[in-house]
Amino acid sequence: DVMKEVLGLKGLETKIKRILHIDDVIVVAGDSDLSPWVKKEMGRACVACMKERLKDNSIVAVTGGTTLAAVADMMTPDPKQSDILFVPARGGLGEHVENQANTICAKMAEKAMGNYRLLHVPDYLSNEAYQSLIEEPAVKEMLQLIKSSNMVVHGIGDAITMAERRKTSEEEMAKIKNGHAVAEAFGYYFNQEGEVVHKVRTIGIQLEDIKHVEHVIAVAGGASKAKAIKAYMKQAPRSILITDEGAAKALIRE
Ligand code: F6P
Repeated sequence: DVMKEVLGLKGLETKIKRILHIDDVIVVAGDSDLSPWVKKEMGRACVACMKERLKDNSIVAVTGGTTLAAVADMMTPDPKQSDILFVPARGGLGEHVENQANTICAKMAEKAMGNYRLLHVPDYLSNEAYQSLIEEPAVKEMLQLIKSSNMVVHGIGDAITMAERRKTSEEEMAKIKNGHAVAEAFGYYFNQEGEVVHKVRTIGIQLEDIKHVEHVIAVAGGASKAKAIKAYMKQAPRSILITDEGAAKALIRE
């Protein structure tokens, strides 16, 4: 903490809290857009933050992305907690295997010496497929587990970057662009005001559910995500934000 003061990170945290109207933020040194190790530092901070809040038998839902993969990399077991269950927050969102919520969930559980359950659903569901899937007993059971999570750990992305990274259809792309989306988190696209302009149809945690989860931790850094973080946090004032200096400074400049 003395180090954080020397680096001016404490001051950045105070400013970010004021700008975003949130109570909890951790800023790590560096900019993850420029240096890949900064993601690991956010991962380390996130693991510490998780451990402070986990209890025996906690259920932790996680999303995908490279930042969450870094959180999984930095996970270590904690003798103070037992029987932690890790689950993916939502079904497939069009990520590569290594960045899928299922992969990250299994890896995090292994590193934490906890348990995991996976959710196997195709990435792009038609309405009919969606409706019948949620009636499947095995899926229903898994959904109940996911919805009873006491912690959600998720990434935030720039809307267009995410839409392009996924195999987004032209029609959906138009909706995202016409809606002036700037942020994306767990399959929801948000405009500058933090309003949902589009959502990917998949099963699992929905935005309304997040509002009732005890601990929600958002992990996102890099100057290129400043706009996205700002927009997303407008509708998530209870969330804990773990970010980096690059994003924090860009947010202050906005
Ligand atoms: O696709 C999963 C996801 O968590 C998105 O919701 C988020 O926008 C993105 O990954 C973040 O990815 P990254 O950490 O690689 O920037």
